[in-house]
Amino acid sequence: MLNLKVSVIGSGNWGSAIAKIVAENAAENRDMFETDVRMWVFEELVAGQKLTEIINTQHENVKYLPGIKLPSNVVAVPDLLDAVEDANLLVFNVPHQFLPRICSQLKGKVPSTVRAVSCIKGVEVSGDGITIIADYISQELGIYCGALSGANLAPEVAQEKFSETTIAYKVPDPSDSIDARVVRTLFHRPYFHVNVVADVAGVSLCGALKNIVALASGFVDGMAWGDNAKAAIIRRGLLEMTKFGREFFPECKASTFTEESCGVADVITSCSGGRNNKLGAALIKTRRPIFELEEELLKGQKAQGVTTAQEVHEFLERRGKLEDFPLFTAVHDIIFSGLDSYALPQILEDVEQKY
Ligand code: NAD
Ligand code: 13P
Repeated sequence: MLNLKVSVIGSGNWGSAIAKIVAENAAENRDMFETDVRMWVFEELVAGQKLTEIINTQHENVKYLPGIKLPSNVVAVPDLLDAVEDANLLVFNVPHQFLPRICSQLKGKVPSTVRAVSCIKGVEVSGDGITIIADYISQELGIYCGALSGANLAPEVAQEKFSETTIAYKVPDPSDSIDARVVRTLFHRPYFHVNVVADVAGVSLCGALKNIVALASGFVDGMAWGDNAKAAIIRRGLLEMTKFGREFFPECKASTFTEESCGVADVITSCSGGRNNKLGAALIKTRRPIFELEEELLKGQKAQGVTTAQEVHEFLERRGKLEDFPLFTAVHDIIFSGLDSYALPQILEDVEQKY
């Protein structure tokens, strides 16, 4: 009996869907996990009532994952430290811009034996460096952290429609009791198939960078350019994602980008039904400020591609590498510098020779 206590940090659209999965598996695998799964909720009032109280009584996150019943063993907790107390396994699942504050609150309070999985799609850029989220969590908290990422639109996963995901998890000590088998058991469902790999950098970068590509695909929708243009953006986006990974994280495997759910499959799904795609289209149609549109269209949910496009641009600029990533650079410039999206074919043609 392992009796592992699992806490999910985050309760947004994906945070709640993942808490549902983890709670279903905790209830079915009592030899490994304690049944109750705590879910940290950034407390807010919804129609005058605390969101944690609503979740714990109605078993539904009415604001971020409406219409989906959460298992009754998901326990919403408003205090971060209460949510992680005595936990053995932490599942991080918040929009990445909120992570530094969360980690600063947890710093020094989490034993080194705790293991973590990050479901966050983003990167951390500071100075002239770039850090994948799993490494950021490891460095801040002094614990091992793997990464989960895949073609996983949260509402579809929450409705138990079939999808696949990729988990990168390779604890340094093979005799660690929280090994890849335990982690797979926590996430794998009949409708949510998990493939475990070792490439934490590749899986993490796929999840972060595809959000920039999804914004570009939204631009295509905004201009009503059709399926051929969208396929071109997907192809060019995947090339830039792979190039970025191989150049700045040489340990990445190209096959993670081309063969795993977190790579090509997530680019396809995010360029069809994702929030970044929707926001990119709205930007081109309205030309209104992006954060205003995000607030209005997503109602509290976040499109991570916008901050990631800014962060990746800042990193590439410092390295003098903007020209080597024309699509990433154009996405940034269309959002923040008023570049005309109709210039995309010209921009992509000018640099094609560089690949
Ligand atoms: P979301 O976009 O629904 O974001 C809203 C969440 O942010 C809410 O839980 C809200 O309470 C919280 N929040 C707001 N202000 C906060 C603050 N100041 N501090 C802390 N939390 C605050 O979130 P999500 O969809 O669960 O996304 C989490 C991660 O999962 C992201 O990196 C996202 O890219 C990734 N992801 C999302 C999906 C999806 O379909 N939604 C799928 C796969 C991966
Ligand atoms: P969006 O954040 O663009 O909705 O993408 C969700 C996702 O990551 C699907 O895999």
